[in-house]
Amino acid sequence: MNTDSYDNIRAIEWRDDCLYLLDQRLLPHTEKYIALSDVVAVAKAITDMVVRGAPAIGVTAAYGVVIAVRSRYQQEGDNWHASIEQDLHCLAASRPTAVNLFWAIDRMRKAMETLPEGDPTAVLLTEAIAVHKEDIAANHHMGELGAGLISPSSGVLTHCNTGSLATGGYGTALGVIRSAYRAGKLSCVYADETRPWLQGARLTAWELVQDNIPVTLQADGAASHLMKQGGVHWVIVGSDRIAGNGDVANKIGTYHLAVAARYHGVKFMVVAPTSTIDMQLSCGDEIPIENRPQEEVLSLGGQRIAPAGVSAWNPSFDVTPAALVDAIVTEKGVVHSPNAAKMRELMSSAG
Ligand code: MRU
Repeated sequence: MNTDSYDNIRAIEWRDDCLYLLDQRLLPHTEKYIALSDVVAVAKAITDMVVRGAPAIGVTAAYGVVIAVRSRYQQEGDNWHASIEQDLHCLAASRPTAVNLFWAIDRMRKAMETLPEGDPTAVLLTEAIAVHKEDIAANHHMGELGAGLISPSSGVLTHCNTGSLATGGYGTALGVIRSAYRAGKLSCVYADETRPWLQGARLTAWELVQDNIPVTLQADGAASHLMKQGGVHWVIVGSDRIAGNGDVANKIGTYHLAVAARYHGVKFMVVAPTSTIDMQLSCGDEIPIENRPQEEVLSLGGQRIAPAGVSAWNPSFDVTPAALVDAIVTEKGVVHSPNAAKMRELMSSAG
């Protein structure tokens, strides 16, 4: 274990010409990687949450494109271009909110435009590996930038899972928490359990235990009470899509954390690579919000908890207005009190 980096987990691996995903539906009790070598299976793994978290979905999709092109080339030789679009559509339809999915597919599509003659697999694999490595590097950089905003002896609260499991590695918000912990700045880390899928209880808690970072789990409804008692100084979250004005979509329950944080004078930090920023959307109202099956709310651990005859509303994400965000931390720099002009400036410097 590398205790210096607090970075011991990888959920996505390419080895033996195959994509391996750590099945996040089984954590924390079972650590099992599944091997994928066909694009429909990759898209289904994203839909079914074998892999989840915006940057991890993007990295997986990049490898999914490699798998799709390889199999089209094996079946159709140089005519593979004619049928690849249907595979890209299949990947793009896997989940709607995380813009990293569409960003990664677009990036792979661009790489397809300049291929040498012959088998395209090796060149596209190099591109997918670059997407993966760049995500990890961005996370380490954001970790340092975000940790730089945190004063010594701070308590932090995070929501959902934004760590190695949700990214290429290290994490966005959880990357900042890893870096701040390594710098000795954190007095305590609180994690929301994150109903209904329990990303906090099952995944964030598991990751932090793996990396020997102490964590205290709480019910989502405990957050305001914790803030009132002075237990936290920063709420630190990731994002699935940030609109051009700095409005932030993230796991359901993030918005009320931001409202409560502002009321209690707690700072609110969003950590996301620029691949999560969608400058084509002028505000958060335009972000497509995924509705997931009612069963996720009506049941817990496969056991029905609500009475028969009850229906459930299960939006998977909400949108926090930019006005409630103190800082958006990206690999290109920090945007304080974001607005449309500052987001444009960040993205034009990002090239
Ligand atoms: O439904 P999920 O588990 O894919 O949702 C994940 C989140 O909301 C994360 O907070 C977000 O993707 C940022 S992860 C680095």
